Formats: sequence, structure tokens, C-alpha cells
Amino acid sequence: MSTQQKTILITGATDGIGLETAKMLGAMGHDVLLHGRSQSKMEKVERTLSEIMAGGRVESYVADLSRMADVAVLARAVAEKHAKLDVLINNAGVYKTPDPFTPDGLVVRFAVNTIAPYLLTKRLLPLIESSGRVINLSSAAQAPVDPEALAGRVKLADGMAYAQSKLAITMWSRRMAESLKGGGPAIIAVNPGSMLGSKMVKQAYGVAGGDLRIGAEILARATLSDEFADASGKYFDNDAGRFASPHPDALNARKCEEVVREIQAIIAEKGQ
Ligand SMILES: NC(=O)c1ccc[n+]([C@@H]2O[C@H](COP(=O)([O-])OP(=O)(O)OC[C@H]3O[C@@H](n4cnc5c(N)ncnc54)[C@H](OP(=O)(O)O)[C@@H]3O)[C@@H](O)[C@H]2O)c1
Repeated sequence: MSTQQKTILITGATDGIGLETAKMLGAMGHDVLLHGRSQSKMEKVERTLSEIMAGGRVESYVADLSRMADVAVLARAVAEKHAKLDVLINNAGVYKTPDPFTPDGLVVRFAVNTIAPYLLTKRLLPLIESSGRVINLSSAAQAPVDPEALAGRVKLADGMAYAQSKLAITMWSRRMAESLKGGGPAIIAVNPGSMLGSKMVKQAYGVAGGDLRIGAEILARATLSDEFADASGKYFDNDAGRFASPHPDALNARKCEEVVREIQAIIAEKGQ
């Protein structure tokens, strides 16, 4: 593990695995940039973090990642304060939602779980050196991506929308890693472990779920450990405890390129 102090942005740090990861990295002495969508939750988390920080700084940013304009504002706010970011953890995610579509007409799960992290990563890439890392939250749930659904033209059942959004982030991670090759940070997709006891898992499956620290520990390792330094483009499956093969579509260069093109078209259409 690197002991050097790092600056780490964690999206969705107001609950679940993201919050647990923020606490872990803060207690290790790193600068932690928290992101959340709720101002009141964010303030509470910042207070909790302040008590356990070990020399690093804590900052917070509020943005609704289902809106691409907000994602762009978030990226600008981070870039205004920081010339350099060591690690971006694209952790924010959604499974259950009262309305499957965003006000912009996107499928919420794709917007938050796939497209927002792509846009945020693209905007923050100039801040992240080639020794840095982008950790993208994937899942064991991965299903072939329907481009019509990605574009918001088809409504999917909850579980299917979630699984497609998670394969889609795994696919763009691989494509971006290939296109950066050496000229940018490592882009790594991580399944943090299945059925870990967050509100997402409780709401989606009605079960208490496992220890959130299992997810936080693997994200901390992915952030700091040498074993992830050369892992750009790879998929770490924490259910197996090792790098593993994602869904075959994520190993198909043509399909990955198609998903990336669709994401770019959506972002352009939303004016970003
Ligand atoms: N738990 C598991 O077993 C498991 C397994 C595989 C993958 N994952 C992935 O791990 C990540 C963390 O999930 P979790 O289980 O810790 O769930 P969680 O407790 O529900 O946390 C999700 C986080 O994302 C934020 N978020 C949701 N929608 C947002 C939006 N529109 N804009 C901004 N932020 C938003 C939430 O904010 P609020 O606090 O305001 O709700 C929260 O901070 C997700 O990407 C999930 O898909 C989890």
C-alpha cells in the first residue's frame, strides 16, 4: 500500500460503500473529496469525517448525477480547487428509484451509473496524472446493453436496467483504458462484492446484506495498492477476490466502442 498522502474524490460518499471508503481513506491520512446529492446528508458526513481525519483535508461537493449539466458543474468545481487529483472513485449508483426516467429523458440507472461517471472522468482526466487511478464501480450483475435503452427510448425493468448500466460502465472503462494506454491514469472496473449491506441492497432485495467494509477495503486497495498500478482495463471481481473476466461483451472491442459512441452522443445531445 502506498503511504504517500493522496487526493481522492469519491462520488456517492454520503452512504453505503462510498461513505465507508471515505472514512477508511480519511483515517489513513489522505485528502478526501466527498460528493453527494443531498446537502444535509453531505454536511452530516463531513462532520463525521472531520472527527476521524488523520491529517488530511475533507471537502464536499453536492451534485445530482442524474443531470449531466450538474456533472459538468461538479467537474468544474473540483478543477477550480485542485490542480491535481490522484484518484477518482466513481462509486455513486442507483438501483431502486421512484421514476425510471430523468427530467432530461434518460434512464436514471444509465444516467447515474454509466453516463455521469464517463462525463466526470473525461472532464477530470487533465487533473489525473498517469500514476493516478480511476476506479469504476461495476457489479456481478452485468447484462448486454440495449443502445435504445441507454438512449432513454426503451423502459427496462429495475434489475435489467441496473445490470445493463453496470456492464456499460465496465465496457467504457476498458475502452478508455485502451485509448489512454500509458498516456493517462489506470482505469479499473471493480465489483466491490455482492449483497453488501447498503440501503441499495436493502431496498432492492429486502435483505440486511454483508459487511460494507468488504467493499470499502477493496476500493481502498484499488486506490493505494501496487497490485492495481498496472491493472488499467482490467476487472476486479471481489466475489472471487481476484482480477477476472467480466461479461464477454466487455472484452469485445467493437461492442465497447459502440457503447462509448452512444454515451458520447447522449452527452453531446444534453449540451455537455
Ligand atoms: N452493495 C452492494 O452489494 C454492491 C454490489 C455491487 C456493486 N455495488 C455498487 O457500489 C456502489 C455503491 O453502492 P451502495 O451499495 O453503497 O449503495 P448506496 O448506499 O445506496 O449508496 C449510493 C450512493 O450514491 C449516491 N447517489 C445515488 N443517486 C445519485 C444521484 N442521482 N446523484 C448523486 N449521487 C447519487 C447516494 O446518495 P444518497 O446518499 O443521497 O442516496 C449514495 O451516496 C454503487 O455503484 C453500486 O452499484 C454495490
